[in-house]
Amino acid sequence: VSFEAQLRADAAQIGAYCDTWFAARSQEPVFDAMRYAVSGGKRLRGFLVMQSARMLGVVDRAALPVAAAIEMLHAYSLVHDDLPAMDDDDLRRGLPTVHVKWDEATAVLAGDGMQSFAFEMLCDPVIGAADVRLDLVQGLARAAGAMVLGQAQDIAAETARVPLTLDQITTLQAGKTGALISWSATAGAVMARVDPTPLGRYATALGLAFQIADDILDVTGDAAKAGKRLHKDADAGKATFVSLLGLDGARARARALIAEAEAALAPYGAAAAPLIEAARFTISRES
Ligand code: IPE
Ligand code: IPE
Ligand code: MG
Ligand code: MG
Ligand code: MG
Repeated sequence: VSFEAQLRADAAQIGAYCDTWFAARSQEPVFDAMRYAVSGGKRLRGFLVMQSARMLGVVDRAALPVAAAIEMLHAYSLVHDDLPAMDDDDLRRGLPTVHVKWDEATAVLAGDGMQSFAFEMLCDPVIGAADVRLDLVQGLARAAGAMVLGQAQDIAAETARVPLTLDQITTLQAGKTGALISWSATAGAVMARVDPTPLGRYATALGLAFQIADDILDVTGDAAKAGKRLHKDADAGKATFVSLLGLDGARARARALIAEAEAALAPYGAAAAPLIEAARFTISRES
């Protein structure tokens, strides 16, 4: 199967898992909002979980709740990111954002709920032994905390008197975007109980490349394809990888990082092909 077909197939599995999750819950509007928020998207983080697990011999049945958990946590971060108090966005994944479709209180609570559901999903014994699940829970708790700090730094940067330096932006993004991506790509190693170091190197480079691509898309992307408002960073006066490096510089940096990510997977040989394609996709994507 092609990379695109595999990405779609894994996305569909994750979507079905989430649908089943919500089918077992009451039909309250706040749950509807969560189901809505966790629908769609590329599901790249879930894909990284599924693929890192497969590469290391973990069965899909065990990896699926882990993939759904990260997509649930990521969806929470997007719902809150789009709130008027943060990026004030009305469009996400081609549809109205949760606070527009429902209201702000529902969006805050839906985000809160999705975060706790993510951790509940990680407690499923089908994932593996209790110590494996505890490692996953601890890692995700830390990554989610790092994401929150990165988001806070990102918001503060909008009103900073002095624009951030490249070092500061790199640190900020490692929290804001990098931490959840790193957790996703190393989850397979945690489940298989093998050394996560090579996957960690891959993920660090990939996470940075991912945010550089997001910043490039904000400038050059097509809103219809991206499914979200673009040109928001420059309007907000944000220092991004593009504002600091220029478009060509940002593209070159992203390409170099993808080469680094690929090199990190050398120990896995041919089995790493899907993760290598995922890295290439990360910087060539249009959404
Ligand atoms: C967007 O993430 C938010 C960032 C961390 C930059 P994605 O580009 O992965 O969004 P979806 O999940 O595909 O919608
Ligand atoms: C969002 O970053 C990152 C998180 C939600 C953690 P952005 O604000 O750049 O994401 P988009 O561009 O709205 O998707
Ligand atoms: Mg933001
Ligand atoms: Mg945003
Ligand atoms: Mg962005």
